[in-house]
Amino acid sequence: MAIRDIILYPDDVLQKECEPVDEIDDSIRELVDDMIETMYHARGIGLAAPQIGVLKRITVIDPTAGEEEDNLHVFINPEIIEAEGRITWEEGCLSIPGVYENVDRAARIKVRALDRNGDPFEIEASDLLSVCIQHEIDHLDGVLFLEHLSRLKRRIVLKKYKKHLKRIEQADEEEGQH
Ligand code: NI
Repeated sequence: MAIRDIILYPDDVLQKECEPVDEIDDSIRELVDDMIETMYHARGIGLAAPQIGVLKRITVIDPTAGEEEDNLHVFINPEIIEAEGRITWEEGCLSIPGVYENVDRAARIKVRALDRNGDPFEIEASDLLSVCIQHEIDHLDGVLFLEHLSRLKRRIVLKKYKKHLKRIEQADEEEGQH
């Protein structure tokens, strides 16, 4: 297993549509393992394959960020087959670090996907898990949570994000001097 680099906005790879996985073999399982390790290392609650530069329809999710057992979900070729209600949740993204904003999504969804063995399964989700799955499936379609915001809010969030990136760069430079 290996921790991969997380690609940051505005890299193009985050805005491309991902291909479905045809065959779930050892290389796919290795990719899934790397995604899980990368997500936990970053203390994230979800990671989609394009965020590590792989344009395949795979995402891993753990709404507890590894704090509690048995909350890890692997979705290969996920599809939302039912959605109802509306919910507003404050979202962030490992590819757009340092910024958070409220996003409206479906409150309850039913999802169909393949697991890491290639077996199909369905899951019903509400609250945070529902929000996470919708956020991650968006990534597989090249859509970032920014696109759910009004133009004004998006502009404010991007301004904050630029400041955050600058702070990170400055911290890195200072570290490099010692
Ligand atoms: Ni994200």
